[in-house]
Amino acid sequence: MARVLLDRKKVYDPILRSIHAWNALAIVLLLLGGRVGEWLGYTPEATSLWRFHVWTGYGLILGLVARATWGLAGPNHARIGALWQPRAWWRALRNRQWFAAPRDWGHHAPATAVYLVFYLLLFGMAATGLALAAIEQGRGPLNFWLGHDVLLKHRFLGPHEWMENAVLAFVVVHIAALIGHEVRHGTPLAQAMVSGFQYRKVDEEEE
Ligand code: HEM
Ligand code: HEM
Repeated sequence: MARVLLDRKKVYDPILRSIHAWNALAIVLLLLGGRVGEWLGYTPEATSLWRFHVWTGYGLILGLVARATWGLAGPNHARIGALWQPRAWWRALRNRQWFAAPRDWGHHAPATAVYLVFYLLLFGMAATGLALAAIEQGRGPLNFWLGHDVLLKHRFLGPHEWMENAVLAFVVVHIAALIGHEVRHGTPLAQAMVSGFQYRKVDEEEE
């Protein structure tokens, strides 16, 4: 029988893990709230839900600021540099190995490109969301410039809706990729953002 030996290392610090959990929760609530709000149409319940959506949106913006700050001040595996790996992206592209077993410690190198695009997308959601909060509800930091200017609504609502689909797609692909890696490569992976520990295969022994 083949025995697989695993090496274990503490990689993700508690602050990075808390920011990840905070942002993931905010995003799930924003996705759910946005969809349910659309179904409710013009009802009093929808009005309350949109207020809640904007407050959750502020929560996400806070989480993004925290992530950027930790990307500058945090430990190595949380640094922005750990997400910027152009050589590894190029290698993965050339060898067509986007789904290879993760070998190094820290973020799976090909996935870091997707994470960066995703953060850009969230920045776009925050900017269009703040514009909509000013236009629809007369609230937020952009209210001074855009407050209740309904003629501008379509300019921001279209991109906000379009990017929402991409956010949903990321969440589905992210979870599917975590499960897919575990099934294909036989090492625990998803739990790393909960426990902070990563596992890598070292060797195989015959018994
Ligand atoms: C709405 C749900 C989620 C979103 C939006 C999300 C988003 C992200 C993002 C942006 C990163 C990059 C981390 C960084 O900034 O350094 C990441 C990494 C990661 N997430 Fe999630 N996540 C979600 C759910 C989950 C869940 C449920 C798990 C499993 C417990 C999980 C496990 C991980 C792991 C293990 C990594 C690091 C993977 C690697 O080594 O490349 N995520 N996630
Ligand atoms: C991941 C992030 C987000 C997702 C997935 C999301 C999702 C959605 C969805 C699905 C809609 C409905 C679009 C429609 O009516 O067709 C919506 C509308 C809206 N969102 Fe977001 N949103 C996000 C972030 C934000 C942020 C950060 C803010 C502001 C702080 C915000 C403020 C708004 C506002 C004001 C509306 C319009 C509500 C209305 O029609 O009265 N959103 N969002």
